[in-house]
Amino acid sequence: MTTTSSILKLAAAVASSVYVLAQVAKIVRQGQNPRLTKLPPTSRGVESLVGNTPLIEIKSLSKLTGCRIYAKLELCNPAGSAKDRVALAIIRENEKSGKLTPHHGDIIFEGTSGSTGISFALLSNALGYHTHICLPDDTSDEKIKLLASLGAIIEPVKPASIVDPEQYVNAARARASAINDDQSDPRNAVFADQFENDFNWRVHYNTTGPEIWTQMQGRIDCFITGSGTGGTIAGVGRYLKEQDASVRVILADPQGSGLANRVNHGVMYDTVEKEGTRRRHQVDTLVEGIGLNRLTWNFQQGEKYIDSAVRVSDDQALKMARFLCENDGLFWGSSAAINCVAAVQTALTLGPGHQIVVVACDSGARHLSKFWAHAARLPADISLQDIV
Ligand SMILES: Cc1ncc(COP(=O)(O)O)c(C=O)c1O
Repeated sequence: MTTTSSILKLAAAVASSVYVLAQVAKIVRQGQNPRLTKLPPTSRGVESLVGNTPLIEIKSLSKLTGCRIYAKLELCNPAGSAKDRVALAIIRENEKSGKLTPHHGDIIFEGTSGSTGISFALLSNALGYHTHICLPDDTSDEKIKLLASLGAIIEPVKPASIVDPEQYVNAARARASAINDDQSDPRNAVFADQFENDFNWRVHYNTTGPEIWTQMQGRIDCFITGSGTGGTIAGVGRYLKEQDASVRVILADPQGSGLANRVNHGVMYDTVEKEGTRRRHQVDTLVEGIGLNRLTWNFQQGEKYIDSAVRVSDDQALKMARFLCENDGLFWGSSAAINCVAAVQTALTLGPGHQIVVVACDSGARHLSKFWAHAARLPADISLQDIV
């Protein structure tokens, strides 16, 4: 009798504990907003925010093409572009080899009128360095003001060809050498050299590529992006091909660039190269950051993984930028717009059911005075048929 009542008491206690635990679990579950479950844990410093960028589906383009078109949002990096990855990788590698020591007056030189200078300026502040940027003296006011606000030393030089020692990339290299050659100067100087620096494509191979592969759960038919230094297409293209040789890697190339001909026909050539037609800027386009008429080390590291190239005109890029802004609320820069035009053309060629990933490298806010000054004037009701 006593044993039976003890067993019953024990059973009742277990049942009530199970009930209490179930209620607690329910309350905890209800307290959690399911939309917040994927928040990352806390991290230290702005440099911890580089990479691991989101990937979103572009609803309008998917709906209208029957393919699924996604964008890797590199503009979500802290200095606003994919170049944060490259700048951070170059800083870390130089720290490892002893060429940069934080808070020692060390200085990073780069020749750029674009995003890389902004990434170096921001990350240098965070990590204890100075940044010296050589750029053409006709660089837009908004970029110079941005670099100046970030505290970079800015040295405008006369626009010149890459063979001229005072061309901005060569000037940056020379300034770095002058500091390192001066025995009385205790500072170290590093010339970042993004076009030729091997760490550039490697950081995309080690981070951007694996992120895309994981986010897409290994289901990608095409990866499409433009080439400035070539680091992104080389690193991501190579990584994706190594995971699945059937992934197509496609170069999106602006008008005026010779790279599309190089990929499709083996010859670096653009019609603007014809005698008497060549203008002041090497690549004659409103699009900034991509397109080139020379082969860089980084592009060469990826060339054999690129299947084909799609040439996109400025007119198409402007219309696409306006279309995405109006239909999807995506306010993107010119290279992202070029990539999306190439994605739509590819989708229409391949037919419905394919998964396509492009890179959205930076925001439209970086392009207000040039590209977006034209795009903003276009009518809001542009259709996809108007673009491709
Ligand atoms: C806005 C923008 N998009 C795309 C690119 C191309 O990236 P990559 O240099 O890796 O070829 C760049 C490069 O500077 C850029 O500034």
